Amino acid sequence: MSPKRSKKTEAKPYEHTESASPMRPEVGTQASFKKKKPPVTYRYDSSLAPEMMWDEKNPAREQGEALIRQILEADSVEQARDAAEKLKRMSAPFLNWAGKAERAEFTVPTLPLFIHERLSTKAIIETLKAHKADKQIDLPLLFADPQHSIRDQVLRAYEHQDKWVNRLILGDSLTVMNSLLRYESLGGQVQMIYMDPPYGVKFGSNFQPFVRSRDVKHNDDDHLTREPEMVKAYRDTWELGVHSYLSYMRDRLLLARELLHRSGSIFVQISDENLHHVRELMDEVFGEGNMVAVIPFVTTTGRGARLIDNIVDFIVWYAKEMQHTKFHTLFEPIPKDQVDRYWVWVELPSGEAIRLTPSQLKGTELAPEGKRFLLRDLTSQGASEKGQFEYIHNKRSFLPPPNRHWSTTKEGMGRLAEQNRLFVFGPQLRGKRYLSDFPVSAINNLWTDTQMGSFVGEKLYVVQTNRKVIERCILMTTDPGDLVLDPTCGSGTTAYVAEQWGRRWITIDVSRVPLALARQRLLTATFPWYELREEGRGPASGFIYKRRQNKKGEEVGGIVPHITLKSIANDIPADEEVLVDRPEQISGITRVTGPFVVEATIPTPVDWEGNGVEDSGVAEEHADHVSRMLEVLRLSPVLHVGGGKTVKVKKVRPPAKTLNLSAEAVTDDGDEEPVAFVFGPENGAVSENLIYHAAMEARAKQYTHLYVIGFAIQPDARKYIEDCEAIAGVPATYVQATPDLLMGDLLKNMRSSQIFSVCGLPEIRIHKAAKGKENKGKLQVELLGLDLFDPTTMEADHREGNDVPAWFLDTNYNGTCFHVNQAFFPRTGAWNSIKKALKGQYEEGVWDHLAGTTSAPFEPGDTGQIAVKVIDDRGNELIVIKSVTEVEG
Ligand SMILES: C[S@@+](CC[C@H](N)C(=O)[O-])C[C@H]1O[C@@H](n2cnc3c(N)ncnc32)[C@H](O)[C@@H]1O
Repeated sequence: MSPKRSKKTEAKPYEHTESASPMRPEVGTQASFKKKKPPVTYRYDSSLAPEMMWDEKNPAREQGEALIRQILEADSVEQARDAAEKLKRMSAPFLNWAGKAERAEFTVPTLPLFIHERLSTKAIIETLKAHKADKQIDLPLLFADPQHSIRDQVLRAYEHQDKWVNRLILGDSLTVMNSLLRYESLGGQVQMIYMDPPYGVKFGSNFQPFVRSRDVKHNDDDHLTREPEMVKAYRDTWELGVHSYLSYMRDRLLLARELLHRSGSIFVQISDENLHHVRELMDEVFGEGNMVAVIPFVTTTGRGARLIDNIVDFIVWYAKEMQHTKFHTLFEPIPKDQVDRYWVWVELPSGEAIRLTPSQLKGTELAPEGKRFLLRDLTSQGASEKGQFEYIHNKRSFLPPPNRHWSTTKEGMGRLAEQNRLFVFGPQLRGKRYLSDFPVSAINNLWTDTQMGSFVGEKLYVVQTNRKVIERCILMTTDPGDLVLDPTCGSGTTAYVAEQWGRRWITIDVSRVPLALARQRLLTATFPWYELREEGRGPASGFIYKRRQNKKGEEVGGIVPHITLKSIANDIPADEEVLVDRPEQISGITRVTGPFVVEATIPTPVDWEGNGVEDSGVAEEHADHVSRMLEVLRLSPVLHVGGGKTVKVKKVRPPAKTLNLSAEAVTDDGDEEPVAFVFGPENGAVSENLIYHAAMEARAKQYTHLYVIGFAIQPDARKYIEDCEAIAGVPATYVQATPDLLMGDLLKNMRSSQIFSVCGLPEIRIHKAAKGKENKGKLQVELLGLDLFDPTTMEADHREGNDVPAWFLDTNYNGTCFHVNQAFFPRTGAWNSIKKALKGQYEEGVWDHLAGTTSAPFEPGDTGQIAVKVIDDRGNELIVIKSVTEVEG
């Protein structure tokens, strides 16, 4: 099928050379990040929440009268129409829910995004190649890493433009969309949004808590997520059930609207339980005139309904501005049952035409080979004088039936005859339309071929959408190079499909489990190489489409004819249609996912020298958090500090006149040693800066130990704790607080004695690579295992290295962003697709490394340190950093 062939398969991604995005700083620079912005308040259009009764006390009356005045005094028809439209809406029924009227506006914190990880399949493959042939490679280029100095990142973040990279963002969709709008001015630049939110039913079961298990049980504590950010989102979001859900959706739709280009579209996936509400919400936010379609699509063969099986979900499609909407019709081959119903005639190679018998049409008897056609009427209604002529065909005379006329002229009829398009059927003369004249038909809004099954690839995520559904939405409303956004990433189906079709993408999820799934899916994917119009310009130049036929004469290319009898009769060139989903493919190239980054919003940390903290209410929130934690510590004064040891404390209280400490206590072991505590933020990781200031104060006030209690910790902070005694003169221990604390009464069984415990770091070993010339000077890293704290059993559990879902190696860790040079998915076939595509180009052993616990050999880099990141079953990331001098054996 391909026009070009090359013997060796090459792996390469598309490059979006023509697009840019503002520089985002890398994680680790946040302490110096100065460009803070105030929170943004979004207001709903008050005319969208009207009251139907115009009584004396109701301001709607005044509003109504003002609109009537506007109509009467309008300078233009448009102005009058606009005011009349508003007036009409005021008397239309509207959806109301608890909390809607009280909430005429909402405020969203404006947080910058920090880059945590850079990923590039090509870089991983090239590292493997380098291992084989010792080839020098330009890694920063493959990672699309602009390599800004920390100084530049701090001073020029969000000003300087970098080359575009696709983005996987951890955070709440509202905060992230606000950040895209306010820090990056991305308003009006997104071409298409696909949103597949929780369906707003069974509020306990919308999240998959484990990377490797798709089982989610409703309202089962073991199956509730335990990520702090998620728990907070969960608590805030669903407090009032469907009422909260409607506010949640409306807020996000409002920001989505701001992000869309005027020719853009938004698709919201929903089930029948809330379809009606989502439509009403979207009418409010986008305007009912911008409703394009509701698309039912089949998801299953039957779902436990009481009376009748429910097999569809829905996509609700709205345009930002209907009249400007970008749209490509999608075509599909005319289905066989349609062909057998209408194209019942066959023209044999001899030229003879026969009508197929019912058993030939049913397929129980072999049908003769030939060109299928159907008959078309050549007359139109009415007695037009011009079309009332006698036409002689094969020496027989034909007249149009009474009260009808020929649809074309005598010359037109002549041209149809010349092209063998006339057919005598009983007493009438008919036109012949071959199936090959236009072998496809436009798709409509009922999608029945979208069931999840083995043919659409293995299902990764409990609520994963069939690729075909999102693919159609993307192909209908975007072009290659356009920007697609999914604020509900899940397993990353939108990003995957956008990547396949050369669109740029941003995807957001509040939970780490889906993000871990999406990252693996994207990193290990392969796609066809669709031929680009201009390779140097990347996908934005468009794909190449050609007209091609197979041996049977069937149209198999991306351009198909659209021949009509009218075009033949009028002697005008036939139209052609482009099948956007059938671009030319080039074999010999295995396309891999282009470089992408993992980013996250970092909530305003409490150690940001108080800047901007007062106005945002963050200080107050943090104070609440600290007093809650203090109370928990008083009630559960036992710290598990590893190796089965515990430390009991008593007399827990806030320290007097403190700047940086959260609590003090004395040990309950007879010695009564004074110890200090610092609590990390509620929604973020403990930073090095926080510990540094706390340690300085702890030493000055002569505490004997500093306990740092947090829900997560940054790698440099972890390192600081290890060396705290040497640097700051006071020993420190990091103690992990179980995220269950944030779950409040959502979790029924919380064992108070085991709230604080250390959480393990990955155990790794660096050794010299096996002997051999090509391995001279190279190292290998082995993941031995890790100790995990299981919040459900409250016990520490040791995992072997090959029993983790994924681990990554950065062979030259720069202390800020993690570059994934090697990505391991132990005991899985995750890399199989790429391995198969690049068959024979690498030793088998190379692929074995990527499914195991020992890295491929690598050359140490100039930073002198490596980092290993392990993803645990709950999607948590644990990082360990080592100097390359720590070689064992
Ligand atoms: C139904 S799933 C999406 C599945 C996706 N279409 C796929 O094919 O895998 C919804 C996702 O939205 C995420 N989510 C829910 N609330 C969110 C929020 N406020 N911000 C960001 N993501 C959210 C959930 O974590 C979940 O992964």
